[in-house]
Amino acid sequence: MAVQNVMVIGAGQMGAGIAQVFAQAGFDVKLNDIAEDSLTKGYQGIEKRLDRQIEKGRMTEDDKNQALNNLTTTTNLNEASDRDLVIEAVVENMDVKTSVFQKLDEITPEHAILATNTSSLPITDIAAVTNRPEQVIGMHFMNPVPVMKLVEVIRAIQTSDASFQTIQEATEKLGKTAVEVNDYPGFISNRVLMPMINEAIYTVFEGVAKPEDVDSVMKLGMNHPMGPLQLADFIGLDTCLYIMEILHDGFGDSKYRPCPLLRKYVSAGWLGKKSGRGFYVYD
Ligand code: NAI
Repeated sequence: MAVQNVMVIGAGQMGAGIAQVFAQAGFDVKLNDIAEDSLTKGYQGIEKRLDRQIEKGRMTEDDKNQALNNLTTTTNLNEASDRDLVIEAVVENMDVKTSVFQKLDEITPEHAILATNTSSLPITDIAAVTNRPEQVIGMHFMNPVPVMKLVEVIRAIQTSDASFQTIQEATEKLGKTAVEVNDYPGFISNRVLMPMINEAIYTVFEGVAKPEDVDSVMKLGMNHPMGPLQLADFIGLDTCLYIMEILHDGFGDSKYRPCPLLRKYVSAGWLGKKSGRGFYVYD
């Protein structure tokens, strides 16, 4: 099956970006949210990003209009009844996600593939609440979606080869690279990134070096565009702790234990850039 019609559920930071890239790639896209104001905000964000592309000379007014013509918004989930692919990007909460998947399983056509953009929840468990587990898959986009080239395509243990291939092809039509991943905690991205961030926090905790110096080593010595502690501040230290706990619980291996200093910062409300203070202080 070649995907033509898509619905994106959740018009937040990720969902709006996902709807935008599909619309720009010529798919017929419906963007859904339970909240009307989230839909309005999501749509306006898309318009603004397209305008910025025009200003930079990377896109014409025609391209923008074409993309917007491919995109409609709705608060009615029943409009998923004619979709080939639905991508869920609602809040990171298992109960909310499973309830959305159960409804989609009833509403969508038999052939439809149901994807989730979850960054930490098991795709296998989400697939198991539907009657079509072989057509459930993870599509883990990176933030900001229109800029980042990667999509981790995560196979639940039940996902069929046909579903995987369909999603791989759709991802390539977006001009992005699909990386095949099996469903284990943290997938590849967070399993590799978060322990590095956690270890960087340990070096500060143990007095090996100051945050600035840890980041300098990784930037100037390893050519990382951003140091791990600066990156942790951007991601949010609460999110970093949450993901370390998922890895720790999921693998039961002490190598994933969250650093006590990370816990202390989160308890203090020092969550990084969004709270004004993390490993660095922000105005
Ligand atoms: P967000 O909080 O910006 O947006 C979530 C949206 O979902 C909100 O507009 C909310 O109104 C809507 N929503 C909640 N329940 C709903 C329902 N039952 N039906 C329809 N809409 C509903 O969240 P964000 O950051 O966009 O994250 C969404 C998903 O993407 C999460 O699973 C998250 O883990 C994942 N993700 C987030 C990344 C990030 O950097 N923010 C990166 C990769 C994945």
